[in-house]
Amino acid sequence: MKLFVDTGNLKDIQALAEIGILDGVTTNPSLMAKEPGDYRETLKKICQVVQGPVSAEVVSTDTAGMLREGRDLATIDEHIVVKVPLTKDGIRACKTLSSEGIRVNVTLCFSATQALFAAKAGASYISPFVGRLDDIGTTGMNLIREIVDIYDNYDFTTEVLVASVRNPIHIVEAARMGADVATCPPAVIEQAFKHPLTDIGLKKFLEDWEKAQATRV
Ligand code: E4P
Repeated sequence: MKLFVDTGNLKDIQALAEIGILDGVTTNPSLMAKEPGDYRETLKKICQVVQGPVSAEVVSTDTAGMLREGRDLATIDEHIVVKVPLTKDGIRACKTLSSEGIRVNVTLCFSATQALFAAKAGASYISPFVGRLDDIGTTGMNLIREIVDIYDNYDFTTEVLVASVRNPIHIVEAARMGADVATCPPAVIEQAFKHPLTDIGLKKFLEDWEKAQATRV
């Protein structure tokens, strides 16, 4: 499963890219609004660092506007994936942009039927939001299972990108279900790295080693 980071923060992206396990980046207008500087330049820098798919979202709500923005975003860098919302206008824009060879991530997906429509429109990625479903008392990961099953039935090439990830359990479940990608906030990746037994074990190994060195003649 590919690991994307869900942020527009260049420092966080750089830190994760250096570790060597980062496959891509997703952004959205709320995340990019927090970042200073020029939107396009920031996206360009992110692409240069990650050298993998970087989702940049349109803010238009009509197809014509999405097409205009999407085509423009796609000129920033070859790694840009245009993100459109799962509306009728968004699906229409997805169909056109995909037919022009521009990769599209259809976002704000909350049902399996929506995911089916995105795949039929040639989306490269579908982004079901699991955390936001959990927030309203529905098990978000059930949606991932449904989408993976449906896409497998028809050999759709659209990748299932698990979004709105809130904890490491979402990552584990996504991987077990065969999702293609999980996009996670930096804090969740940090949490997923940590285990107290790793820290305790490493401390003990080093203490034992030091003790042995001290008694050796
Ligand atoms: C995905 O592409 C979205 O940017 C993101 O995962 C939304 O997550 P949130 O529900 O934590 O805002």
